[in-house]
Amino acid sequence: MRIEEVQSTSKKERVATHTHIKGLGLDANGTAIGMSAGFVGQAEAREACGLVVDMIRQKKMAGRALLLAGPPATGKTALALGISQELGSKVPFCPMVGSEVYSSEVKKTEVLMENFRRAIGLRIKENKEVYEGEVTELSPEESESSTGGYGKNISHVVIGLKTVKGTKQLKLDPTIYDALIKEKVAVGDVIYIEANSGAVKRVGRCDAFATEYDLEAEEYVPIPKGEVHKKKEIVQDVTLHDLDAANAQPQGGQDILSLMGQMMKPRKTEITEKLRQEINKVVNRYIDEGIAELVPGVLFIDEVHMLDIECFSYLNRALESSLSPIVILATNRGICTVRGTDMTSPHGIPVDLLDRLVIVRTQIYGPIEMIQVPISCLIMCFNFPM
Ligand SMILES: Nc1ncnc2c1ncn2[C@@H]1O[C@H](COP(=O)(O)OP(=O)(O)OP(=O)(O)O)[C@@H](O)[C@H]1O
Ligand SMILES: [Mg+2]
Repeated sequence: MRIEEVQSTSKKERVATHTHIKGLGLDANGTAIGMSAGFVGQAEAREACGLVVDMIRQKKMAGRALLLAGPPATGKTALALGISQELGSKVPFCPMVGSEVYSSEVKKTEVLMENFRRAIGLRIKENKEVYEGEVTELSPEESESSTGGYGKNISHVVIGLKTVKGTKQLKLDPTIYDALIKEKVAVGDVIYIEANSGAVKRVGRCDAFATEYDLEAEEYVPIPKGEVHKKKEIVQDVTLHDLDAANAQPQGGQDILSLMGQMMKPRKTEITEKLRQEINKVVNRYIDEGIAELVPGVLFIDEVHMLDIECFSYLNRALESSLSPIVILATNRGICTVRGTDMTSPHGIPVDLLDRLVIVRTQIYGPIEMIQVPISCLIMCFNFPM
């Protein structure tokens, strides 16, 4: 089981129609400010969402679900994005659309399960022995090739690290040199090297090199305090799905057959139930030992009337499990049939699930808001001072 080097698989969101939404626009008491954070009007729904955000922050919403219901274009999707922005970037937020579950290759419940796990975060805190500092010297030492060819080998690397307190020169293994090249480390960067795994992380460029340009791609960091060799608390935010994906990659060899196998097999079907159970076990152990902390996030299912009866029964069960995120549903349907049955039901959601939901209604806009919404879009998109 790998917990290090987990890459984030979170979906990149670029929903341009909602770029003006920067939060819910509430004041300290939780009352809606007329035109703020990109929102206009819809005060009651915003305040209700504010209460939900408070409950999520106090971890009192776990295992419950919220339904945003109202006529089309009254800002349900916008409210859900507002909630995610209020929660901050550390709380995982996984948006999906009801129709995403229909695929000819992957089971509906599998898609739901994946998204559930994308919405459950894990904060791993580890005390690691590291060498940290600003790189003052980076010189690879070459030697004759050991395999007898004409090429040269790197026998070791000498690296100088500087902190406020002192400097140190380290002689490192050639594999760490590869890691240094991969991270594009150069003299003047602040880096840390983990002592037992040899993993290299580039923190940024030392602020002594900061220039006066207004716009730059570099991130400047201060030169580290303390000794070069020290214990450092490293915090990693991952989701359960990141762990699944990192551990599910095929471990086959480099031959043609396994390459073919990798190409033929869609990566999505590789995460098995067994693997998930293994990961849950390790995660539970980590939580018991106090190394990791669970951060239940938010799963947002838009157009929820598109789900069918199988998905709803799965949702019912998933909401009850101990590892469950907060689920936000949104729909613009009134009374309609539940997909996969001939029952009619409010919002196209079976009544048993409906009973467990907190429902927030959005109101249709009056002429004044109709004029103000596009103005608010313009103001926020062009960042005019308000
Ligand atoms: N109160 C508001 N303040 C500012 N912008 C808003 C507000 N309500 C809606 N908008 C904007 O109006 C547009 C339509 O809203 P949105 O897509 O959220 O509606 P919806 O309720 O999800 O509709 P549908 O039911 O069709 O999915 C979006 O660009 C949204 O950002
Ligand atoms: Mg919508």
